[in-house]
Amino acid sequence: MIVSLIAAVDSKNGIGLNGIMPWGHIKEDMQFFRSTTTGYPVIMGRVTFESLGSKPLPKRKNIVISSSINNDLKYDNLFFDNSFEDVLSKLLLEKYNQIFIIGGESIYKKALDYADSIYLTHINKDYNCDRFFPEVDKSLFNSSILKSFIYNDINVDIVEYSRKKIVQ
Ligand SMILES: NC(=O)c1ccc[n+]([C@@H]2O[C@H](COP(=O)([O-])OP(=O)(O)OC[C@H]3O[C@@H](n4cnc5c(N)ncnc54)[C@H](OP(=O)(O)O)[C@@H]3O)[C@@H](O)[C@H]2O)c1
Repeated sequence: MIVSLIAAVDSKNGIGLNGIMPWGHIKEDMQFFRSTTTGYPVIMGRVTFESLGSKPLPKRKNIVISSSINNDLKYDNLFFDNSFEDVLSKLLLEKYNQIFIIGGESIYKKALDYADSIYLTHINKDYNCDRFFPEVDKSLFNSSILKSFIYNDINVDIVEYSRKKIVQ
């Protein structure tokens, strides 16, 4: 099972400010996120889930990590769990080819060591964020730029980082 992290980051690795993404709606990034994650399970923290309007993303199994289970929300594709590691084990047993970790800071930190690949949309501006993507040891990953574009006069690069295979 391929474990992938996907995030948009600013020039200081910021991912959020006051519970939202401060750069607004970047159409190309939203399209990339949707096409990359659709069909696969997505795992997120409770704060990120609430930033999505407390609704699951369509056509994906949504798993929300929280210390409290919310039974009020009834969606076929929404599940709550209180342990990130238990979620990984369960998805492995369910034989998914790939899963996506979609934030926020607390969940990216837990997931980084398990990451086979990381998709980062680099937005070349500082938004004074209060939440950050964890430091990635770039020597452990190969990188390739998938797409570059300009958003509101800002350079944006979507980069895939693939963990290097250890040759024995
Ligand atoms: N730029 C991007 O691509 C991107 C993507 C996603 C999110 N974000 C941003 O990231 C920010 C949110 O990040 P965050 O770190 O504040 O929140 P978060 O990771 O989304 O959610 C934190 C919550 O997850 C639950 N949680 C985390 N670890 C847990 C554990 N070990 N056991 C049980 N529950 C656990 C807790 O929920 P309970 O309090 O319910 O127990 C905790 O309060 C927002 O600003 C959001 O916009 C950005």
